[in-house]
Amino acid sequence: MALVHRFIGLIAVMIVEESVKGFRFYGAVDGLSMEYYAMRCPMAEITVRNTVNRAVDSDATLAAGLLRMHFHDCFIEGCDGSILIDSTKDNKAEKDSPANVNLRGYEIIDDAKKELEVRCPGVVSCADILAMAARDAVIWAGGPFYDIAKGRKDGRRSKIEDTINLLSPTHNISELIRGFTRRGFNVQEMVALSGGHTLGVAKCSSFKNRLSKFDSTNDIDPTLDEDFAKTLTGKCSAGDGEEVAFDETRNEFDNAYFSTLWRNSGLLSSDQTLFTSSQTKGFVNMYTANQAIFFNHFSQAMVKMSTIDVKEGSKGEVRENCRKIT
Ligand SMILES: *[C@@H]1O[C@H](CO)[C@@H](O)[C@H](O)[C@H]1NC(C)=O
Repeated sequence: MALVHRFIGLIAVMIVEESVKGFRFYGAVDGLSMEYYAMRCPMAEITVRNTVNRAVDSDATLAAGLLRMHFHDCFIEGCDGSILIDSTKDNKAEKDSPANVNLRGYEIIDDAKKELEVRCPGVVSCADILAMAARDAVIWAGGPFYDIAKGRKDGRRSKIEDTINLLSPTHNISELIRGFTRRGFNVQEMVALSGGHTLGVAKCSSFKNRLSKFDSTNDIDPTLDEDFAKTLTGKCSAGDGEEVAFDETRNEFDNAYFSTLWRNSGLLSSDQTLFTSSQTKGFVNMYTANQAIFFNHFSQAMVKMSTIDVKEGSKGEVRENCRKIT
């Protein structure tokens, strides 16, 4: 009897799947779409938004954390939630890479996931939660609204060695361009995405190589403003973990970051080089002069980034716990 019930249940599920496929907006059932959760889990977007808002209301610096986490997820193995995986005794995961140790906001993804597992178990992927959370963090901080397609599945691979493909703050302009091109971005999109540094801070360990006191050749980076270099040197004397904001409005999403480059006060070498290099300077000028254009280009580049190598359909899973591969 139980078996018969299960069989009938299975057929019912198949019929529902078929009728869902019939809806125009589900065009590609396994692919991404704006309305992916409209019927599968109508509360998905609002649940993520409320969770993010609650978290950043109590700690505004988490907005930068979520944006950066999404970026680091997408650049390695695509936007598949692989950054969220915890290491196990058999597997060193991406998050334990030196490039990722300062990422923050994992608990926000866990909180949203927990709530969504109650509302619609097994439906909303961790990769989608992260993509929506980064978007909502940008909006919370005063940045542009952009809609993203949903339907990413969670990847089953998260290996520390894959993170060697992450960009480094010491990369020169050709290395930066190569890194972004490999992910399908042009130079303009690279500069727009770099504007994400309008949120957050960097630790001294990421830029002290530019300061004479900490540099073996005893030279100060010539592209660094001298007074700013003195300030940074003082700050970094307290240790590698000291934090400095990228711009004067660290929790506001605006175009102030680009003005710092004009003042030769870009924090990382990879920031300042966007202004000193002829291939990118024009975009920095444009975004400094016009925040609306920056917002527009940033949104478009984020939409593009959020679809890098997504695992659709059976290429991934929907994890119950974002930290564990099922
Ligand atoms: C950037 O670095 C690479 C490798 O480290 C080097 O080959 C190249 O000449 C550098 N490019 C510029 C513009 O400095």
